[in-house]
Amino acid sequence: MKILVTGGLGFIGSHTVVELQNEGYEVVIIDDCSNSSEKVLDGITAITGKRPLFEKLDLKERSKVEDFFKRHTDIAGVIHFAASKAVGESVEKPLLYYENNIGTLVYLLKELARKSNSSFIFSSSCTVYGQADKMPITEDAPVKAAESPYGNTKQMGEEIIRDTCKVTPNLKAIALRYFNPMGAHPSAEIGELPIGVPQNLVPFITQTGIGLREQLSVFGDDYPTPDGTCVRDYIYVVDLAKAHVIALQRLLAGKNKTNYEVFNVGTGKGSTVLEVIKSFEKVSGKKLNYKIVDRRPGDITSAYADTTLANNELGWKAQYSLDEAMKSAWDWERKIRS
Ligand SMILES: NC(=O)c1ccc[n+]([C@@H]2O[C@H](COP(=O)([O-])OP(=O)(O)OC[C@H]3O[C@@H](n4cnc5c(N)ncnc54)[C@H](O)[C@@H]3O)[C@@H](O)[C@H]2O)c1
Repeated sequence: MKILVTGGLGFIGSHTVVELQNEGYEVVIIDDCSNSSEKVLDGITAITGKRPLFEKLDLKERSKVEDFFKRHTDIAGVIHFAASKAVGESVEKPLLYYENNIGTLVYLLKELARKSNSSFIFSSSCTVYGQADKMPITEDAPVKAAESPYGNTKQMGEEIIRDTCKVTPNLKAIALRYFNPMGAHPSAEIGELPIGVPQNLVPFITQTGIGLREQLSVFGDDYPTPDGTCVRDYIYVVDLAKAHVIALQRLLAGKNKTNYEVFNVGTGKGSTVLEVIKSFEKVSGKKLNYKIVDRRPGDITSAYADTTLANNELGWKAQYSLDEAMKSAWDWERKIRS
């Protein structure tokens, strides 16, 4: 079966391509390399022994998307990762984010709606919950007003898919709401490759650990949490990649309950920033240079998933610990700087 993975050279996409190929799927990747490199194909090939098909294509170019689907009439499912994801940049350049994250989604859905049967997995985010009223967060927690154009594209993306599925019985879709993806493949052949200053905590920690950044700032230690620092649910990228394969298999086998479903993908366990730093110090044997600074505007106190639905209904559960995930991130950082 041929599966299209958009953004398949990116961080989460590349790990998902590996898991799909391990399960015997034929993968075709679309990526414009705006936030990735074609070298990732070598990493995927080194792990799986198989080079996925690749088309360098910008999904914003609708005629090229149409042409792609004319040439690949046998696509059984699509996993759609391609998007711009920097929250700060989205505030500066909202139209870029609406065009890249919403425009491309609409073009893909138009192609899929034409097919007699199609399965679609969408990369959503726990940002749709904002600061949820109750922890852990269940899928029926209210979606709060988005804090940024990026967050808004995830909310709107979910609505667009839901509305389309309502009137398109041949289209089945699952939105996966990721918590905080981290880590790298245990082989250290692929991993996260942030361009510029990392937006996420773990690559900032590993870059500080290796000496690329001088110091990590921890924003606030006076939150109402066990040690005063913010709590997040760190999900290992290989576990997350496997969730995509399982979600896709659910749709391909027609096991879905409705033709649009939503699942949280997290570990169900919250970790504070200081616990994440301790994990790094444990697996690396290094002391991290960090300092506590003022709270950062817009940061929520706590977000971790209730994973009951994913565990029981989807049949997926995170397997790896924070330390295992952190070790893979550190191995990757050392490999790319060596
Ligand atoms: N990493 C996270 O913390 C996180 C959390 C929640 C949700 N997500 C979502 O998961 C998805 C994947 O995230 P990631 O961390 O792997 O990001 P990434 O930037 O590493 O991967 C995205 C890939 O999409 C490609 N791309 C972007 N625009 C494109 C276009 N117009 N045409 C073709 N290719 C395009 C980029 O080159 C990149 O390779 C995104 O939709 C992101 O919003 C990520």
